[in-house]
Amino acid sequence: MGKLPTAKSKIAPQGAEGDVNSSPRRGAWQADHINDEAREILDRDERYFLHQSVSTPCLNTIRKAEGIWIEDHAGKRYMDFHGNNVHHIGYGHPRLVEAITRQMQELPFAPRRFACDVAAELAEKLAHITPGSLSKTLFTTGGSDAIEIALKMARVATGRFKTISFWDAFHGAGFGASSVGGEEMFRGGPVGPLLPGTEHVPPFGDYRNAWGVREGSAELCASQIRYVLEKEGDIGAVIAEPNRAVPYIAPAGFWQQVREACDAHGSLLIFDEIPTGLGKTGKMFSCEYDGVVPDILVIGKSLGGGILPIASVICKPELDVAQNYAYGHYTHEKNPVTTRAALTTIQIIEEEGLVENAASVGDYALERLMEMKDRHPLIGDVRGRGFLFGAELVKDRDTREQANDAADMVLYAALSRGLSFKTTMGNVLTFTPSLVTTRSDMDFALNVIDESLTEVESELGYA
Ligand SMILES: Cc1ncc(COP(=O)(O)O)c(C=O)c1O
Repeated sequence: MGKLPTAKSKIAPQGAEGDVNSSPRRGAWQADHINDEAREILDRDERYFLHQSVSTPCLNTIRKAEGIWIEDHAGKRYMDFHGNNVHHIGYGHPRLVEAITRQMQELPFAPRRFACDVAAELAEKLAHITPGSLSKTLFTTGGSDAIEIALKMARVATGRFKTISFWDAFHGAGFGASSVGGEEMFRGGPVGPLLPGTEHVPPFGDYRNAWGVREGSAELCASQIRYVLEKEGDIGAVIAEPNRAVPYIAPAGFWQQVREACDAHGSLLIFDEIPTGLGKTGKMFSCEYDGVVPDILVIGKSLGGGILPIASVICKPELDVAQNYAYGHYTHEKNPVTTRAALTTIQIIEEEGLVENAASVGDYALERLMEMKDRHPLIGDVRGRGFLFGAELVKDRDTREQANDAADMVLYAALSRGLSFKTTMGNVLTFTPSLVTTRSDMDFALNVIDESLTEVESELGYA
């Protein structure tokens, strides 16, 4: 093979995700925490996996995941306040492990042309727990694929290919998903051209936004959506996360305005609740806060109970209009084991009252973080809902200049104390605990955050 051009792949997008592989503090942290066994695994991982941002090379190794805890090869435990949003019911829930094991023994696979009772039961369950008339479903093995289906369905149902989505959003790694996504890391550089007609607008978020306003950003965002809907005239769908993962919560009335604008222009509304669905924000689906029902809802991640990969697109019955095509015909579409995992996960969430737990312990966490904001000059803003919450770190509360370096320092200080989370947009400490996290677990985590902030502020010379 001739020499491949490499220049484009050297372009490094900045900032959207924190703690990228090249973070300078990684090396120092690893020197203190990685033992020989872990080093050997990290080396093999690095040698044989394709390197990509926020993936390989890795920070550390994992040998155990149980409940809300993960453990590395040095025996150090971390409360997992990230969990890729798969660990709603905690890692390795015994009831789920048992259900999956039994299902594997009874019926391990369902080939095409054979209806599978557990898959049908899951589809029926989703029709019951999702809002409004959402009731027709397809399953995939990942959220990104489910987004692709949602986009195809919107094209088929409306006869239009264009979309509106938010800059800075993430909807997955597929071509469609990364085209409607708004993060340079996943859509930019050498991978293009992306899908045509994927219009983007700046997202709402009063603390930091493209308009430079300190209030009213949601009004501006809604007007931009209305404006593009009107000017383009043929937008098939608006796709967004109802609660932005940064996190930013839309003010009351925002999604109603978007819903009305979509209806007025014959466009569909797609909600991506892949991380937030199944209770993360303190309601089964975060769109329930606004009382807005999308035409298509996409869920995934935690649906497989943190063990198996499964995602789902659920839509209104009137969108069931493509019988002669096969947009979501995936090999494991109706897999009895993954669908058993999903069904059991939903049962666990309902029977253990996990949505209610996320709402009440989430309120408590937010209150404590607000109180920390009074004591920690680094915290510029605290926001969130349920178990999706965060603190934005700034160098100066007036200018709101991002304190990315400090956020990185807090991340490593917290890891050393046994708490794992991620930073987003460079400076937002983002917490997405498992729904089984109790108030005393939360106290542990918040104490770690408090102590880590104190340590970093003293290192940086704050009073
Ligand atoms: C909002 C959102 N949409 C889509 C996806 C893609 O899901 P998956 O990684 O399962 O393809 C993610 C994953 O992080 C997500 O957070």
